[in-house]
Amino acid sequence: MKLNGKIAVVTGASSGIGAGIARAFGAEGATVIVNYSSSKAGADAVVSAIEAAGGKAAAVQADVSKPDDIIRLFEKVKADYGRLDVLVNNAGIAIFEMAADVTEEAFHKQFNVNVLGYFLAIREALKVFGKDGGSIINISSILSTDPYLASSVYAATKGAVDTMTFALARELGPRKIRVNSILPGHTNTPATDGNFAGELGVKLLAGTPLGRFGEPEDIAPVAVFLASADSHWVTGESLRAAGGVRGVGY
Ligand SMILES: NC(=O)c1ccc[n+]([C@@H]2O[C@H](COP(=O)([O-])OP(=O)(O)OC[C@H]3O[C@@H](n4cnc5c(N)ncnc54)[C@H](OP(=O)(O)O)[C@@H]3O)[C@@H](O)[C@H]2O)c1
Repeated sequence: MKLNGKIAVVTGASSGIGAGIARAFGAEGATVIVNYSSSKAGADAVVSAIEAAGGKAAAVQADVSKPDDIIRLFEKVKADYGRLDVLVNNAGIAIFEMAADVTEEAFHKQFNVNVLGYFLAIREALKVFGKDGGSIINISSILSTDPYLASSVYAATKGAVDTMTFALARELGPRKIRVNSILPGHTNTPATDGNFAGELGVKLLAGTPLGRFGEPEDIAPVAVFLASADSHWVTGESLRAAGGVRGVGY
């Protein structure tokens, strides 16, 4: 098992890509802290699935956009496990609107979860990573480099995530903490339910060389790689996991 004995936090792990990563980490021997904001039932189901497969996991509520919640989350990790080896920043929201319709509220909501939330988690995680360092994995998006229509604010949050990734890889290298991002393509999750139907879906599929939409199980092995010693010489990278999509995908 590639993550035997590792302690890993996955934010937004009650659903979708985060849940897939949490399950894969559990199967690879990590103890997984399954973070969620409001979906306790979803987080509990992920914990049960990991335990049923012989792994270790615990659900911890924290809204990543709230500093007090994040501080409490990582204090709990320290108290319960003594250290942290892997942080996956995954909790994210997307609001697709044309610029003329974007409110300040929608702008700040996305930046507060997708950028401030990632940053706060990293800041607090730095207090818990041990002397052997670790791995930070930021879930970005292909929209970071290839934004499509009505995604200006969401795409900008992911651009910020990738820039933060490069900057922190430099800053945290001396502590043996590697920082990388994964850019998923169009992936079937509750967040995208219905988005890939109709004419848009046909166009997106036509622009996907591997010929189907992604699943959380397609993204999870990439996260396992970046969390494991197999990627010990990889930091400051943005890795696309998108079935080959380039450009806007259509
Ligand atoms: N699906 C795609 O096509 C796609 C493509 C590229 C990138 N991504 C990125 O992948 C990540 C996961 O997306 P997904 O499609 O798997 O979405 P999802 O199924 O909606 O899952 C989102 C997760 O984030 C959690 N979350 C939301 N706000 C939170 C907050 N303030 N604090 C803590 N947790 C919070 C949710 O938990 P609660 O329900 O408990 O709030 C849920 O577990 C996001 O960063 C997204 O931008 C997705």
